[in-house]
Amino acid sequence: MSASTPIRTLTPASVLARKGQTPLVCLTAYTTPIARLADAACDIVLVGDSVGMVLHGLPSTLGVTMEMMILHGKAVMRGIQKALCVVDMPFGSYEESPAQAFRNASRLLAETGASAVKLEGGVQMKETIAFLVARGVPVMGHIGLTPQAVNVLGGYKVQGRNEDAQRVMEDARAVEEAGAFAIVLEKLPRSLGQDITECLAIPTIGIGAGPDCDGQILVIDDMLGLFADFKPKFVKRYATLADDAAKALAAYADDVRQRAFPDAEHSFGDKP
Ligand code: KIV
Repeated sequence: MSASTPIRTLTPASVLARKGQTPLVCLTAYTTPIARLADAACDIVLVGDSVGMVLHGLPSTLGVTMEMMILHGKAVMRGIQKALCVVDMPFGSYEESPAQAFRNASRLLAETGASAVKLEGGVQMKETIAFLVARGVPVMGHIGLTPQAVNVLGGYKVQGRNEDAQRVMEDARAVEEAGAFAIVLEKLPRSLGQDITECLAIPTIGIGAGPDCDGQILVIDDMLGLFADFKPKFVKRYATLADDAAKALAAYADDVRQRAFPDAEHSFGDKP
């Protein structure tokens, strides 16, 4: 190991060992500077396929490609020193067969340097997750609201309410039995988030699944308030960066129009 080799303190195994301990802190990141910030605060940094909607303006995650995930995965890895980096498998890159999933998961790990992949689905993905894990690919599961299935689910609705809870619980059990080291629970009633967390031996990472999960994840742009007009119920804004940015841009525009910028401080003189 050279002096410049990053020391990665978190691994899939150490995340698994955090079950029932101090909650796991997780955020998404898509670029190097944001990954540096997230790395300082988080246990897990996820290169989510939300990148398609957040950075590329796509209407859903369905248009995200392997090339996009690899590009952003590489950028994020350049900013990470200690957190575990997980890269999302995009829609269409793993559903066809376990062999297709392995081909693309191994590419994601090899080309980005990340330590694990995340994929959506429960019972129907059990065989695929087991296939990947048996071949050296650590997998984080993702059940409940699975955004890649938005067209089947009929929107971004809360899952697992009332009699639907059993289906989601079966998905959770399938992901654990397949060998995943952790599982994201998205948009579930708090009581179901708690039940699944108590039932599983792997850490649950909630996003809109209540406070009882073993960890929490948010899309970083949401919690930083980078979208002035988008605030789902499960997002807490820890900053209002869209407002701050709009004010800064308006001040810059005024300065330029009034020739107040650049002033002497920001201009070059002749060489003495
Ligand atoms: O793509 C993503 O950002 C995610 C998180 C919301 C869990 O899957």
